[in-house]
Amino acid sequence: MVREWDPRTASSAEIASLLDTLNAVLAVDLPRDPPWRESSLREYLSEVMPGERRISWVAQAEPAANGTPGPILGQVNVLLLGDIGVLEVLVHPSRRRGGLGRDLVLVAARRAYQEGFQSIGVEVVGATPAVAFYESLGFSKEYVETRSVLDLSAVDWAELSEMATGIGAGYHLEFCPGGPPDDLIDAYARAKAEVRDVDDGELRPSSYDPQRLRDSLDCLHRRGMKPYIVLALHEQTGEVAGLTEVVVPAQHPTRADQYDTIVVQDHRGYGIDRAIKARMLLELRSAEPKLTEVQTWNAQANEAMLKVNAELGYRPDREWCEYSVDVAELVHRLDAGR
Ligand SMILES: CC(C)(COP(=O)(O)OP(=O)(O)OC[C@H]1O[C@@H](n2cnc3c(N)ncnc32)[C@H](O)[C@@H]1OP(=O)(O)O)[C@@H](O)C(=O)NCCC(=O)NCCS
Repeated sequence: MVREWDPRTASSAEIASLLDTLNAVLAVDLPRDPPWRESSLREYLSEVMPGERRISWVAQAEPAANGTPGPILGQVNVLLLGDIGVLEVLVHPSRRRGGLGRDLVLVAARRAYQEGFQSIGVEVVGATPAVAFYESLGFSKEYVETRSVLDLSAVDWAELSEMATGIGAGYHLEFCPGGPPDDLIDAYARAKAEVRDVDDGELRPSSYDPQRLRDSLDCLHRRGMKPYIVLALHEQTGEVAGLTEVVVPAQHPTRADQYDTIVVQDHRGYGIDRAIKARMLLELRSAEPKLTEVQTWNAQANEAMLKVNAELGYRPDREWCEYSVDVAELVHRLDAGR
């Protein structure tokens, strides 16, 4: 029932069936999240950064008596990047607690083991069955973030306009739909590199060098995810003093994802964080009129950023945890339990 599956060549019926399962999962686990759409879903599942691979398997029900293929009831994929594998597992709510989740993790873990990977990480949403599931498989919690959601209908736009202009002298803001302009790519990558410590513990490496940054923007576009950026430029040096990135995914275009927000060390204390985020929301209001929410993830220790987000109207929603496990131990544990 579990078989390797390539989203690039999968039939449209399989993609649609996987979408149904994903939305059934969201409806029970994250009922306030918008359901996903089919738009660019195949690309979302297939496209990766250069040097990365995503391998997928699905669990499909038996065909009906008339030969119609059965629905896709579960899926696992493992993204192999650098020296770690990142796992994603879904089981349709009507099929849970029958061992399918464990079977899906086992096929992916075996492959990661064969390929020489030592560690597997996974994002686990707080207060969902996934917490007990991964803990039962020996995963341990490495890092906790809080997801917060901003409801755009509750935003005080006049106040936001003031925040967007409340920035120290010597800086100006620039809105860049689609990504940073080519002549600022180097400065943009420098700003990201300088604060790479803030990314410690995250599963995905950020883009520190210009080529990786270009690759990452290309990959986002291919996956149907539209990036928007607001930059704070330091007029005297032309350096990028701060940046904030929001992505509007074709798969859930009413809820955007806040990616990195960075204020370079020397430029802190001038109101840049608040101003760039406020300007971003003002721009999105006209660039993406169908957008109703923005979600963001922050480390609980990052008090300064949490304070600015609260001022903008973000409300904490869920814990979002990163778990990891030693691959050999995981395979051994799962094999022993069979
Ligand atoms: C986590 C998930 C994959 C588990 O799938 P599953 O098929 O139910 O898991 P299994 O039946 O293999 O469970 C294995 C073990 O995990 C633990 N477990 C799983 N669900 C549990 C629950 N709800 N409560 C307590 N323990 C649980 C149990 O120890 C279970 O063994 P047991 O049934 O013999 O006691 C499934 O709940 C799921 O798809 N969740 C959504 C995950 C996700 O990515 N969400 C993202 C959007 S929210």
